[in-house]
Amino acid sequence: MDKQSTIDNYEAHVSAGKVSFYRKYGMNFVMGRREGAWLYDIDEQKRLFNCHSNGGVFNLGHRHQEVIDSLKLALDEVDIGNHHLMSQERAALATQLTDSMPGDLNVCIFGVGGGEAVDLALKLALGHTGRSKIISANGGYHGHTGLALSVGDAQYREPFGIGLTDMVQVPFNDAMALENALDDQVAAVILETIPATLGMVMPKPEYLEQVRSLCDQNGTLLIMDEVQSGLGRTGKLWAFEHADIIPDMVIVGKGLSGGIYPISATIIREPLDAIFRKDPFIHISTFGGSELGCRVGQKVVSISSNENFLRRVREAGGMIRTGLDALRDKYPKFFTGIRQSGMMIGLELRDKYAGPALTKAAYDQDLLIVYANNDTSVCQFLPPMTITDNEIKWVILQLDKALNSARKLRTALIAKQKTDGLLKRFSRKD
Ligand SMILES: Cc1ncc(COP(=O)(O)O)c(C=O)c1O
Repeated sequence: MDKQSTIDNYEAHVSAGKVSFYRKYGMNFVMGRREGAWLYDIDEQKRLFNCHSNGGVFNLGHRHQEVIDSLKLALDEVDIGNHHLMSQERAALATQLTDSMPGDLNVCIFGVGGGEAVDLALKLALGHTGRSKIISANGGYHGHTGLALSVGDAQYREPFGIGLTDMVQVPFNDAMALENALDDQVAAVILETIPATLGMVMPKPEYLEQVRSLCDQNGTLLIMDEVQSGLGRTGKLWAFEHADIIPDMVIVGKGLSGGIYPISATIIREPLDAIFRKDPFIHISTFGGSELGCRVGQKVVSISSNENFLRRVREAGGMIRTGLDALRDKYPKFFTGIRQSGMMIGLELRDKYAGPALTKAAYDQDLLIVYANNDTSVCQFLPPMTITDNEIKWVILQLDKALNSARKLRTALIAKQKTDGLLKRFSRKD
């Protein structure tokens, strides 16, 4: 199918809204060939360097050879598997994941996507504690499935008339607000370790320790969502390891798939397993932890947990920082700050119009950068962790040009009142 027919069919049968959005902003890119950090338009007339990595799905770049090889071998040997039976592949990946976590985070339940893994964690917290409330962060994002949607930002639930009174939200980084919201009906607090959709907000020093201790005092479970921040993104395998805490549950998704085969995991402390010991068939996911996905996950975890890999993430993060610091000095009014942990980076910009403007300007300079949907003054900057030194230099050069034109674009966007549409979406979520 040629490019125009693809767009026509996409418009007719997948999403007319997206097609009209991209047409309006001159971004009619259809993903074709992909390789490493690069995406090519289906007609090969344009390519984009992926500085978003789908929120971590492409942590290892597109089509990482070792990950592909692991899936190819798995296809010769296994299939989805059978969720009723015991499985060598699930046992192997569960062992790897739980071995990588502290304390008695010893049990791993697999799913297909992040939202499903969050749903399970919340369901388990409600069931285990017998309580009814969940606290999450304003502007956080945990998925678009049932319970995950309920603890996310109102803009994603209200159009569907979903609003649960037992789901309470407090500002991230505000321990006092959390303390005030906690009561004996709160089953769990769920937080992204670094809220990505809110603009890569870095947890204040001591904040996560305070949250842990408030939860302990209140008999409330602490769930850390590491869907974006996990698997080495911050220079440690799990971002919560930067704080002195052991969560009760950890959510892993996106990158575990290697960008090749969907899989997610909810890792829980041993006592929380009680419900499943009583009735091991009470929670089922037909495709969750498919054996093909487990093989891919095993490869991803072994690459990402390697100390040399993590050292390189920290080193590349430092090199990116040097480049970004220079750009911030060059465009101080527009590019106002940098949020960073390893290669999990947010570019703080002048105002809510600047994120969409930079997204479009970066696209024009062949960079895929996406503004944070719940704070559009920030652009998410998550290049693949396999980025080379030369690629970093090139990306910084392109970003320089993009920042230069984004300043003018922002003014034009405001003048033409076009921001409404652009603000509504580049990334509807992550
Ligand atoms: C922090 C976080 N949690 C959960 C999810 C939901 O994952 P999925 O889209 O695989 O359901 C996302 C997706 O962007 C996410 O960023």
